[in-house]
Amino acid sequence: MSINQGIKPITTEEKENLTIGGCDLKELAKKYGTPLYVIDEQTLRTICKEYKSAFSNYKNIKMMYASKALCTGAITRILDEEGFGFDTVSAGEIYTVYKAGVDMSHVLFNGNNKSASELELALNYKVGRFSVDNFHEAEMLNRIAAQKKVTADILLRITPGIECHTHNYIQTGQIDSKFGFDLSQIDDIISLIIERYKNLNIKGLHAHIGSQIFELQSYHDEVDILVREISRINNKFGLKLNEMNIGGGLGVKYTNNDTPPSIEELAKAVTDAMHKYSTEIPTIYIEPGRSIVSTAGVTLYTAGSSKTTSNGKKYVAVDGGMADNPRPSMYQAEYTAQVVNKINYTEKETVTIAGRYCESGDILISEISLPKLEAGDIICIFNTGAYNYSMASNYNRVEKPAMVLVNNSHSDIIVYRETLDNLISHDNIPDRLRKYD
Ligand SMILES: Cc1ncc(COP(=O)(O)O)c(C=O)c1O
Repeated sequence: MSINQGIKPITTEEKENLTIGGCDLKELAKKYGTPLYVIDEQTLRTICKEYKSAFSNYKNIKMMYASKALCTGAITRILDEEGFGFDTVSAGEIYTVYKAGVDMSHVLFNGNNKSASELELALNYKVGRFSVDNFHEAEMLNRIAAQKKVTADILLRITPGIECHTHNYIQTGQIDSKFGFDLSQIDDIISLIIERYKNLNIKGLHAHIGSQIFELQSYHDEVDILVREISRINNKFGLKLNEMNIGGGLGVKYTNNDTPPSIEELAKAVTDAMHKYSTEIPTIYIEPGRSIVSTAGVTLYTAGSSKTTSNGKKYVAVDGGMADNPRPSMYQAEYTAQVVNKINYTEKETVTIAGRYCESGDILISEISLPKLEAGDIICIFNTGAYNYSMASNYNRVEKPAMVLVNNSHSDIIVYRETLDNLISHDNIPDRLRKYD
């Protein structure tokens, strides 16, 4: 079984309390406070190795971790040590991986509206590839590269017209997507680059069809389209494009209803399609995000107030919610949880885990069967490694949680909990409004 096919980190054990990476989660909650993001290093490293081994039969493969899923210095170091490159989408992500010591030729810059200053920073840091998304960006990148007297190696992001059955907001490859060049625009942009944009060097095409994907046929179709387009472009324009980026998207198992394919099955679908449709062995970039970090991460919360409504619905509120995990309120994402300190309790009740934020929609889990909760109990929500911290906000002016890395019964802080002073550190009260100096 692939790690993305399990709900919990691989080191999870049920002892007196729940433990991960040999660390008692109740003790972690006591030491670092809650809410607390916990990342299991062994799960993270094992899944990286799984990806590398699954694709090892294809010689020109480049693994690029989609850092948007979770981007911090320590996570970057681990992915770098495991031999991954980085898909980045902002100056912030580029800066994070640069400061973590990544060889910038292993970095790719994606995004549908990169600013001039971001493009300039990426050129200064010599990122390896730009995935050019639209005409505006192509013109701007060429102009800035020309000013710097450098050439930018680029992929062209295309919209392949593939709809996969995932949430609307996380589908990106369908025809009316905001991302990439329509297939009907490809020849125009290539002609422009050949004739006018002399500081852009096209290496290949890029597509990303969505996230939390369970259907391997979508990848098969995507490879088919990319291979056909590359060969058509090479024939028509006499070019030698030989790189294709198939994006990320492999799903994970948040609850027992989720049945994602294994990494091995994904690799087979992609490489089979390559061998079926292509006579060459182009370089394939793959950009997994969620399937790399999701299962390695959990979030710990402390139970607080509770309420039973007149029609019998029981809510238990925790000390976090939509600001540290916006996914349930954003796209009705579902999760699984356990009570850390009540592992062996057999008597259960159905509760809704509510967040602490001032929105009725701030519900982390609707109707889950758990041991009877009391204030002070520690709840562990699984599979929160991806798109939780990276999408976190300071809604209600609440400090963002800390993050710890656990391994071999040891824990290290990798993101400090924000303080109240952090929260006001960017405020400015104009002199005429000041009460205190
Ligand atoms: C271009 C691109 N590549 C890779 C990813 C990562 O996708 P996932 O986290 O589903 O693997 C995304 C996510 O939105 C993306 O937009």
